[in-house]
Amino acid sequence: MTTGTPRAHAPATLRNREPILEILQRVLPAKGIVLEIASGTGEHVAYFAPRLSPDLLWQPSDVSADKLNDIDLYARESRAMNILAALVLDTQDPWPLHHADAILCCNMIHIAPWEAAIGLIEGAARVLPANAPLVLYGPYKRQGEHTAPSNAEFDKGLKARNPRWGLRCLDTDVLPLAIANGFRAEEIIPMPANNLAIVLRRTE
Ligand SMILES: C[S@@+](CC[C@H](N)C(=O)[O-])C[C@H]1O[C@@H](n2cnc3c(N)ncnc32)[C@H](O)[C@@H]1O
Repeated sequence: MTTGTPRAHAPATLRNREPILEILQRVLPAKGIVLEIASGTGEHVAYFAPRLSPDLLWQPSDVSADKLNDIDLYARESRAMNILAALVLDTQDPWPLHHADAILCCNMIHIAPWEAAIGLIEGAARVLPANAPLVLYGPYKRQGEHTAPSNAEFDKGLKARNPRWGLRCLDTDVLPLAIANGFRAEEIIPMPANNLAIVLRRTE
């Protein structure tokens, strides 16, 4: 996996990347810019970019400037020619780009204040054209309830770390926000380990 250069590793990416890839293969356009928000270690983009259309140009990003080196390192090691240098992007600030043809955001909105989710959806509505997908991945509540004891435990742990973090409810929080910003929910896909993938599509 590595050539030995020390860098962050997120073990969950090894477990969830294949099921996420299967969704991306279906829903991403054949060409254009895919903006990844909250890239984290960069392992996802380094896995996806060489396995999807070479005409997709991937733009990784994260709120934390400290993460950009690792993201670029994984990207270089993937040997994919279609990954741009990572950018600082805080969903709550003005975004450093004005157009994307698709957006992917995994595991951010529960590990950030709700305002980060608002910034994500409003920003996505600004930069995506009609019919472009916004793909979210992570754990969610449904109808206000946890879907598994492990998610309830995880939520408790998140709130102990930061009371403004925590699992969001897909039905009462995330989907209403997305719909109010001109998205429709195209697919809600159960994923391993009580996660969901949500494919939203820009309608207007
Ligand atoms: C749990 S990690 C997920 C990383 C990666 N997407 C994954 O699934 O492994 C959460 C990431 O969200 C980023 N993040 C938190 N708040 C953010 C914000 N407001 N805008 C952009 N990224 C943010 C963090 O820096 C961190 O890299």
